[in-house]
Amino acid sequence: MTQLTFPENFLWGTATSSYQIEGAAREDGRGPSIWDDFCRLKDAIQDGSDGSVACDHYHRYREDVALMKALGLKAYRFSIAWPRVLPAGRGAVNPKGIGFYDRLVDELLAAGIRPFVTLYHWDLPSALNAQGGWTNRDSAGWFADYATVVVRALGDRVKDWITLNEPWCSAYLGYEFGMHAPGYQDQALASKAMHHLLLAHGTALQAIRAAGDANTRVGITLNFEPNLPASESEDDRRAAAEAFDLLYEGFAEPILTGAYNERILARMVGVEIRPGDMAIIAGRNDFMGVNYYSAKLISARRGAVYDDDPEFTRMGWAVRPAGLYAILMQLHRATRGRLPLYITENGASFADQVTDGRVHDERRVAYLRAHFTQAHRAIQDGVDLRGYFVWSLIDNFEWSFGYQQFFGVVRVEYATQARIIKDSGYYLRDVATANAVL
Ligand code: FCB
Repeated sequence: MTQLTFPENFLWGTATSSYQIEGAAREDGRGPSIWDDFCRLKDAIQDGSDGSVACDHYHRYREDVALMKALGLKAYRFSIAWPRVLPAGRGAVNPKGIGFYDRLVDELLAAGIRPFVTLYHWDLPSALNAQGGWTNRDSAGWFADYATVVVRALGDRVKDWITLNEPWCSAYLGYEFGMHAPGYQDQALASKAMHHLLLAHGTALQAIRAAGDANTRVGITLNFEPNLPASESEDDRRAAAEAFDLLYEGFAEPILTGAYNERILARMVGVEIRPGDMAIIAGRNDFMGVNYYSAKLISARRGAVYDDDPEFTRMGWAVRPAGLYAILMQLHRATRGRLPLYITENGASFADQVTDGRVHDERRVAYLRAHFTQAHRAIQDGVDLRGYFVWSLIDNFEWSFGYQQFFGVVRVEYATQARIIKDSGYYLRDVATANAVL
């Protein structure tokens, strides 16, 4: 078998987010976030849990960094809890909150791990939600001010910044489908939130560059679920190419082109788009982060096809590695190869079992291998892919699914907080060490 070797300096890492792993929700002056509030709503979280303890990473970050080092990982994507740094969202800075991230960054650098810091992975301070949250146009400025505080504190050591994680989820799951915090069900609110999140990204790009130095790099992480033709027939290919794709058209497209297309504009009823907004939204990015889990199959005759998949994960997501190649190629073409890409999340939840202190998660290993192979194929075809962050380092609080989904390459025994490296963790270690798909 020929080895699929990745380019020199390719970054292998894992990703997490603050609310999903930190716990310590009421410690050291952290303010409440919309996720603390949302978890208290009846039936919002499948197992009735919340992130108040989670993986206790706030106290165990040294152990978690040591795990990454043991796995030979060279990069780590984590997020900062806005309400830890600014408990009321704006105004007074909480020195203990920023102090935690200060220590975490130092610990990572000492372990030879490059931090990629996401500024917003969904834990909006409750005080800002009381003022409309992302439906308030002022949110763009609040976010840029918060970004400035963080970059001033950590920018001497952190060079890679991600403004927002998956703004589609913030806007649509949060304001239209009610599945995520703040839990509203109102389409008009969702399109407002979408525009303001994009504006927040563009405004923060400028703020981060102003607060950082010449080596500062900024991008955004978007989630994609591309349309794949259900067959190679001409009709299915055309149907897939023409099918609506809110994730791409509503988020990547305005960022890359500076315009909303007509299908998107038709949905944005009541949203105020001021002159100058689109130029801000289309500000220069140094890279784009791609989160990929699954794809849609489109048939000309049957529309979206769900029933002929070989495999589903525990989330019910179809395993379609070819979609990763497809979205990387789509972005490559759209940016004429000029925008470096990172896979900032990819991974799978399966029901794991501990046998004799080990977790033999062959399905996760197979999932990762298949997706690594597609990433390698995209690089062979010219895509400027710089790194790959597996979701996730450790099992964690999977939002409205609570602790019933398991994405980690390291298992967490919640009763004791013990960490057990799964076979997929060892596999990732071997891949990272060889810098090749094994
Ligand atoms: C993504 C989120 C991440 C995690 C994975 C499974 O949408 O960014 O926090 O929940 O899905």
